[in-house]
Amino acid sequence: MLLIAKRLDSVEPSPTLAITARANALKAEGKDVVGFGAGEPDFDTPDHIKKAAQKAMESGKTKYTPTSGTVSLKDAIIEKFQKDNGLKYDRKNIIVGVGGKQVIYNFFLATLNPGDEVIIPAPYWVSYADIIRLAEGVPVIVHTKPENNFQITPEQLEKAITPRTKVFLINSPSNPTGAAYSKKDLSALSDIILKHQIMILTDDIYEKIIYDGFEFSNPAMFSNELKERTFVINGVSKAYSMTGWRIGYGAGHPDIIKNMDTIQGQSTSNATSIAQYAAEEALRGDQTCVSDMLKAFTDRRNKIVAALRAIPGIQCNMPQGAFYVFPYLDEVYSLPGFQKLIQGNESASKSKIFCDHLLEKYDVAAVPGIAFGDDHAIRLSYALSQETIDKGVQRISKMIQELK
Ligand SMILES: Cc1ncc(COP(=O)(O)O)c(C=O)c1O
Repeated sequence: MLLIAKRLDSVEPSPTLAITARANALKAEGKDVVGFGAGEPDFDTPDHIKKAAQKAMESGKTKYTPTSGTVSLKDAIIEKFQKDNGLKYDRKNIIVGVGGKQVIYNFFLATLNPGDEVIIPAPYWVSYADIIRLAEGVPVIVHTKPENNFQITPEQLEKAITPRTKVFLINSPSNPTGAAYSKKDLSALSDIILKHQIMILTDDIYEKIIYDGFEFSNPAMFSNELKERTFVINGVSKAYSMTGWRIGYGAGHPDIIKNMDTIQGQSTSNATSIAQYAAEEALRGDQTCVSDMLKAFTDRRNKIVAALRAIPGIQCNMPQGAFYVFPYLDEVYSLPGFQKLIQGNESASKSKIFCDHLLEKYDVAAVPGIAFGDDHAIRLSYALSQETIDKGVQRISKMIQELK
């Protein structure tokens, strides 16, 4: 189409947002839809955080702030890195943006030249590849396996590196699989990074949602040399149930931050002033809200994994973090009823056909694995009440039963 720029040719709308919109439309028609699609906690933003926003409003903190964030929020972020990760940053290393998503986008705009390659282990968060394409980079997808806990191996990483490789992107705990890298596994990957002198983007947005005492780490924590090559993404959306406030942040080399600041200054300017004050309270204030949320998620994770594993034909890894499960459906795909569904359409995405059928006939919204680069599975978010999860899993079980 003449009206539209070529750069959009290879960019897809976010499938998770599309599925949520479709599920909401069906709900508005009066259907009792179970929405496993959403990527946000179901809890309200804690009161003390809301109060900080009210106070900011009442005291007139409603004007432009510095493009890269208020000094006080940057200081709260610096304290967070020191306290949680033992990482020492200065204000010149920090940028605040309109959600982690914008920070990732601006990072790639600031660092990629056309044709530069970014290695992404699959399954990956839906937006990475499209953001990289918008920034004229080339996503290089490396497939991982459930039996390796969905982790890229050092051998796979090394094989994927070419003279055009600029960044290796890692997301631990992962959306969509919930898999998290141990310190040992990350440090083996980090050795390859140092050997080939490339950069790491570590998306730590699910850092606080981690189970069974798993110890979170990122490559910047291992050595100064690695810290120089690592750009950290984080934010308040998931940890503090603040998805709508749109505050994310990045930490890294001052030259990258400076250029991201320029990009932001010529696009959105600062993130909302009031939301920045709320984020400051989230980071500095009482952290009981995080442990309460974690308790609820731990319980739901255990129950949903057990319920899915009880359905014949489903294989489901135990996630170590985030609030998603990524059940494998290979056996379901070979059931006679499913074969009938794909008849004449064999080359189409199986996970999409599964999810379309699940939504249209069983009123359950789930995200097809193909959106995350893995057609063997679907993603279910367990950021829902236990009762709703149980109802949804029962419907999935019914559908699979009826495909036999
Ligand atoms: C892996 C990952 N990174 C980044 C984001 C962006 O979050 P936000 O823009 O709300 O900070 C998300 C949100 O779904 C995510 O799942």
